Amino acid sequence: MNRGAPSVNRGSPSVNSPSVNRGSPSVNRGAPSENRGLGWSLPHLSSRILPSTCDHCCIRSSPVSTIKNVKYSIRSMQVEDIPKLHALLAENKWNMELDYLNCIFSTDPTGLLIVEDEQGNVIGHNGILKHGSHLASFGMNIVKDGYRELGIGKKLLQATMELMGDRNVGMNSLSNRVTFYEQFGWKVSSFTLSYNQGKVNLDFIKHPLAVGFELMSSDNVSFEELFSYDTEIHTVPRKRFLDFWINHKKAQSFVAVRSGKIVGYCVLRPADVGWKMYPLYADDKNVAHALFCKAVSLIPKGEDLIFTLPVENEEANKLAKGAGLVQYLSMPRLYNKWNVVMDLTRVYSVASTEYAIV
Ligand SMILES: CC(C)(COP(=O)(O)OP(=O)(O)OC[C@H]1O[C@@H](n2cnc3c(N)ncnc32)[C@H](O)[C@@H]1OP(=O)(O)O)[C@@H](O)C(=O)NCCC(=O)NCCS
Repeated sequence: MNRGAPSVNRGSPSVNSPSVNRGSPSVNRGAPSENRGLGWSLPHLSSRILPSTCDHCCIRSSPVSTIKNVKYSIRSMQVEDIPKLHALLAENKWNMELDYLNCIFSTDPTGLLIVEDEQGNVIGHNGILKHGSHLASFGMNIVKDGYRELGIGKKLLQATMELMGDRNVGMNSLSNRVTFYEQFGWKVSSFTLSYNQGKVNLDFIKHPLAVGFELMSSDNVSFEELFSYDTEIHTVPRKRFLDFWINHKKAQSFVAVRSGKIVGYCVLRPADVGWKMYPLYADDKNVAHALFCKAVSLIPKGEDLIFTLPVENEEANKLAKGAGLVQYLSMPRLYNKWNVVMDLTRVYSVASTEYAIV
């Protein structure tokens, strides 16, 4: 995602862990007829229950918290929130296109939260995407400009942490925010992502070394085989995500096959700004380069490529450098329990900077 250059290094903020009233269930986890509020009892924050303003669900009926005259509630995300969330992210220059948000929501909406003001505006988002019962990815922590520094971010984080339960949760922090997340338990360092963007140097894609393998559209291989290749690398099966992501009408997905076996694949999709090559997985640098060239050749002239690689993969760095991309962000991946070990030599670009392991 293009989060833009973060303007302030906030260092290590001292955060007083808010005293959550754990007696009342903390988050409206989705069942529309249930009223599950946050029930915080902080001295500076008052809560009250508003009557439902909606006939068919209770998404407006969760407790409303007030901080300095800002009334807001935190609730589970609904499909209708997607365009509003998209607008909020775009306002903050996060390059998270509607199709991406739809894909995540369709994969599993149960870990996604929204902060809403009294007028029904979406003023914050954070969430987790579960990878089974023990593991999840945490991402897209945002509060609308103008509502920041009021304590909303911390309440949202706390609500998201309750959704995590006992899971091991991975996240990609901005490098200047690692200290903030450490205090909440994200102390296990994994790899570091480097977010690259730019117009591809066309000389670099002139002569791909496609020897010993064939490139083809993903339509020509079985989805099951591709799914199983992805699982080897991502380490956790994510069939729903892949189905929405790879088979989307705007996705251009290519596979490299050697002796009848998949040895790499990549997906190119239009983003709000530029094109994302998310992911590019390959067994070796020649396969990676050939897939890269194939996909890049489809990017309209003058438009940017977005390519987010693990810095630990030396060949991926060479690929991005050779292509003339510019690094904008560095994002260390942290876990709160244990590191998820994976073969990063096969990861040239990740599938999502937010809601995936890689
Ligand atoms: C980070 C952000 C979500 C915090 O929301 P907020 O409502 O302003 O946070 P609060 O008022 O509860 O807390 C303010 C302090 O805690 C920090 N903080 C609170 N929640 C945070 C979170 N989830 N992630 C990072 N920092 C957070 C703030 O940076 C700030 O630090 P300070 O006390 O040293 O000034 C908000 O500033 C934002 O949307 N920023 C732009 C997007 C972004 O950078 N997201 C984080 C990506 S890692």
